[in-house]
Amino acid sequence: SKLEMFVDELLDMPKILSYEIVSGVPRSKSLEIGMFNTTWKFHRDLPHTHVYAYGVSENTATVPGPTIVALHRIDTYVTWQNYLPPMHMLPWDPTITTATPTNKEGIPTVVHLHGGINEPESDGNPNSWFTAGFKEKGPKWTKETFHYDNNQQPGNLWYHDHAMGLTRINVLAGLAGAYIIHHPNLEAPLGLPSGDEFDRSLIVFDRSFRTDGSVYMNSTGDNPSIHPYWRPEYFGNAIIVNGKAWPYMTVQRRKYRFRIINASNARFLRFFFTNGLGFIHVGSDSAYLNESVMTNEFLLGPSEIADVVVDFSKSKNDTAILANDAPYPYPSGDPVNEGNSKIMKFIILRRPEVDTSRIPKKLIQYPSPDLSSVTQTRYIAMYEYDSTTNQPTHLYLNGKSFEAPVTETPKAGTTEVWNVINLTPDNHPLHIHLGLFVALYQTELVNLTEFTNCMTKMNNAIKCQISKYARGKSINVPTQEKGWKNVFKMRPGFMTKILVRFSYIHSNESYPFDVSAEPGYVYHCHILDHEDNEMMRPLKFIK
Ligand code: C2O
Ligand code: CU
Repeated sequence: SKLEMFVDELLDMPKILSYEIVSGVPRSKSLEIGMFNTTWKFHRDLPHTHVYAYGVSENTATVPGPTIVALHRIDTYVTWQNYLPPMHMLPWDPTITTATPTNKEGIPTVVHLHGGINEPESDGNPNSWFTAGFKEKGPKWTKETFHYDNNQQPGNLWYHDHAMGLTRINVLAGLAGAYIIHHPNLEAPLGLPSGDEFDRSLIVFDRSFRTDGSVYMNSTGDNPSIHPYWRPEYFGNAIIVNGKAWPYMTVQRRKYRFRIINASNARFLRFFFTNGLGFIHVGSDSAYLNESVMTNEFLLGPSEIADVVVDFSKSKNDTAILANDAPYPYPSGDPVNEGNSKIMKFIILRRPEVDTSRIPKKLIQYPSPDLSSVTQTRYIAMYEYDSTTNQPTHLYLNGKSFEAPVTETPKAGTTEVWNVINLTPDNHPLHIHLGLFVALYQTELVNLTEFTNCMTKMNNAIKCQISKYARGKSINVPTQEKGWKNVFKMRPGFMTKILVRFSYIHSNESYPFDVSAEPGYVYHCHILDHEDNEMMRPLKFIK
């Protein structure tokens, strides 16, 4: 049976303030947030769905989890508590490198604050996992209570599970939520739409359900003799926004701010309005843009964030459908169908409203990428790795497993250039923990087969004479993605040059913690099914 669209009203996830105001002064706060085994109603006509949900209590746990609201420079301490049952609701695959408790009892979890600039002990390393009651712990576990100092620039982050080899199923089960860092002194003067009513988070992902309501995941591996359950990409046929399938929202004829997170495992979403309304971008992943940018559509890979203002007073109609037309897998997979081409519907009230909010051209000024400060250039190659059996087994980066000795060892405070060479047919959203980067440009690779053959043998971009191949057409980065980001879409058959900064963008201070401490950081493809099959490498800082 088909689910009817636009019958559930958009929800706002509960908000948790990560600070408290004591006699008018903000103070740091300690939170306890649990992961609960519970149910969630995704659609009016769908029975309750078994989920794993974040919340302060079992009764208030939601999918996605509560939105955590933090203040710049006010520390937050979170004890993430695992209350999950002994067995996972979705199939693990023991043939990929995965967190494994003894006796296979307990569900390993660990939370990563995506976009956070935090000490390694609190960054959610995939091997810092733990099971219910901290009964079992991964080899890189360090502490129960995570420290987020919120020293960084204001913007949009999100938190999600990051356990080794289980991220895709833990997130599919419901473990993700939004996290916002506010900086009132910088943001209030901008005059953007604000307050709970006009500034909303939209957490978007795709899911499939069985008629009994349970989450459906095709669990026959695409190459079952090698991986019995693992599949290269999860795609669901319903689009969920803030926990409801194709919801609707009634809006006033005025400006709204939407902080849109693509929390899908593998689905790229290209957003547009069916009635031609535009988007004014003010920020992306964890940072504001220097200047606002108007577009009619934009593409978000998994984990990317768009912070946009939509002015419904410009609408000629009384309804506007937010739609998607990104093929899946992106860019050369199936075209969208009736279900996954719609995201949500806005019902626009007739009466014009007084709207004092503004969208300034100039937003918050951050430094431009400075190539003269670069101290290290790296090449990161993405190619389909073939084992001796000639079957694709793992999606390694630079031909190396996650466990292979660390090769990316930057120094805190420095700036590097990473040339990311994508020799696969898919677009991979590359995410780097701790650092912020600017995508400079993308250059097409010529004689791709020849270069790929060399790379598969030598695994060394310099020895394979990358400069001979990286000389095709050059593609500019979309204007709304030219700011500081933590994830960028690596176009297939191209080399993407990014400038990575391992320092703050809003001040010259150095990190107030020891970045070189264990367990270090990681960088990876944010298609969760790829990340889980080792399209991920350690990132370890040297002193
Ligand atoms: Cu959003 Cu390492 O992940
Ligand atoms: Cu990938």
